[in-house]
Amino acid sequence: MNPSVYSRYRTAFVEALAQALGVPASELESQVKPADPAHGDFSFPTFPLAKAQKKAPPAIAASLAQGIKVPGLDVVAAGPYVNAKFALMPFTSEVLDAVRSQGARYGGGDVGAGKTVVIDYSSPNIAKPIAFHHIRSTMIGHSLANLHRALGYKVEGINYLGDWGKQFGLVAVGFQEYGDPARRNDMAHLVEVYVKANKRAEAEPAFDERARDFFRRMEANDPEALALWKEFRDTSLRDFQRIYARLGVKFEHMEGESFYQGKMEPVIEEIARRPGIKQSEGATIVDLPYEENEPPVLLKKNDGSTLYATRDLAAAIDRHERFHFDKALYVVAADQALHFRQLFRVLKAMGREWSDRMVHIHFGRVHGMSTRKGNVVLLTDVLDEAKARVLEKVQENIQAGKMQTGDAEGLAEQIGMGAIFFGDLKNRRTTDYTFDWEDVLSIEGHTGPYLQYAHARTCNVLRKGGGVPASYDPSLLSLPEEQAVLRAIARLPVVVQEAAEQCEPSFIARWLLDLAAEFSRYYTLGNQDRSKRVLVEDNEPVKAARLALTDATRAALASGLTLLGIATPENM
Ligand code: ARG
Repeated sequence: MNPSVYSRYRTAFVEALAQALGVPASELESQVKPADPAHGDFSFPTFPLAKAQKKAPPAIAASLAQGIKVPGLDVVAAGPYVNAKFALMPFTSEVLDAVRSQGARYGGGDVGAGKTVVIDYSSPNIAKPIAFHHIRSTMIGHSLANLHRALGYKVEGINYLGDWGKQFGLVAVGFQEYGDPARRNDMAHLVEVYVKANKRAEAEPAFDERARDFFRRMEANDPEALALWKEFRDTSLRDFQRIYARLGVKFEHMEGESFYQGKMEPVIEEIARRPGIKQSEGATIVDLPYEENEPPVLLKKNDGSTLYATRDLAAAIDRHERFHFDKALYVVAADQALHFRQLFRVLKAMGREWSDRMVHIHFGRVHGMSTRKGNVVLLTDVLDEAKARVLEKVQENIQAGKMQTGDAEGLAEQIGMGAIFFGDLKNRRTTDYTFDWEDVLSIEGHTGPYLQYAHARTCNVLRKGGGVPASYDPSLLSLPEEQAVLRAIARLPVVVQEAAEQCEPSFIARWLLDLAAEFSRYYTLGNQDRSKRVLVEDNEPVKAARLALTDATRAALASGLTLLGIATPENM
């Protein structure tokens, strides 16, 4: 794939500067910055040259600007800066052509071609309530998978289900006490049982011991314990799959912790050889230099059962052997930072240099999450409530004649899910945020529904205008507002790359808001001035060019929304 229009011009500008100054282009790469929009698109400050050239920066800028010619860029000096600005043409036609030829793939690239990235995400715990941090992981991970795929990476998305461990013991033993045998396939019931059993285990050591014992039987391959485990696991999985289907999330692999049952002994033996193991109060720990107060890495408890860390070590080695990844991302809440630091450290101490390619993609907490039903937040309740709240508004709009749709339910589902996705992904992933229904659902704010509406509006304009004509003259798009829309569109490929590099879907979210705002500014010009309407009357050539711009906006918005996992209804 060719480099994007934006980066091609940037490179040409950097190279022209380098040639004029007689230095390698790589030296100037980081010095060319986005310009203040009033002055252009790229800006090069000449201050650093003043000393060597013994000239004032404005004089340097003036003579540099004189000497530089880059086809398609207007280069001028402004004080100490050399600024470059896209000429109306061919920039305008190049951007429109790029979007038109790439369609839904616009924004992607090929920096990841031939590379593999493993993304461990979602990873809820079976038979436990799926918590909001799992949905954050699901949404961030899903969008990182989309971003990497768009850049040509081979993506191995793994749902590392928490399907092994003492919590099963709790559910199993809890079921004997509180379970309704007729509801053993009902996830909500399992969660109730788990919550009760967990409480009781905290207060009553003997009960806790029964749960541990059940897990020991699972690890010893006791058929009866395993049969019950499998039944509960299937019930949870059915429930999760329903949620994933609603969210449009798919995994390349569903491999939970239980996948590593029976595969841990060789890993423990390897660790025993290097860096070594130690016994501590009957438990087996990795022999590492620990910091003061740092809990040691436990491989086996004193009853011989394995732990979360043991299984993650086995999983990492297995994934490296199978996928030879260039990057492995663990999309997991920030409170597991120590676990991942230790995991990477043990692998390194084992001589596994590739552990440097693993990253904990941590994220902050969500506060204030509650539903009309109350405070124990089940993910399905959140999704149902999002849909129900949207449906109320959709129905109001239909009644008021403001909206037409044959499928109010389906539309409400798309808008509701989009609201939850965007409400989360617009935040920088490392920050905590407070969830508020109005904040995520309002059609006016910085929300998913607002962006979906902006997209649907472009579809609507295109429908009314009869679609994009086969030919049009792009040079007619000379209004500053039109050029601002084009510039926003042109930036998407750059933003996609930065978002993937920094694992920060919020960059895409912010870009979507920018593009929607630019388009809205442009679109509303027509309210004051009929000659500035997209569907301008009595000027077919201008209308044709404006429809082409509207179509490029539509495609770019759709591309960005899809990268975030948000549906793009054409009518709303
Ligand atoms: N199931 C874990 C939890 O809910 C998250 C697993 C994350 N992935 C991993 N490889 N440890 O806390």
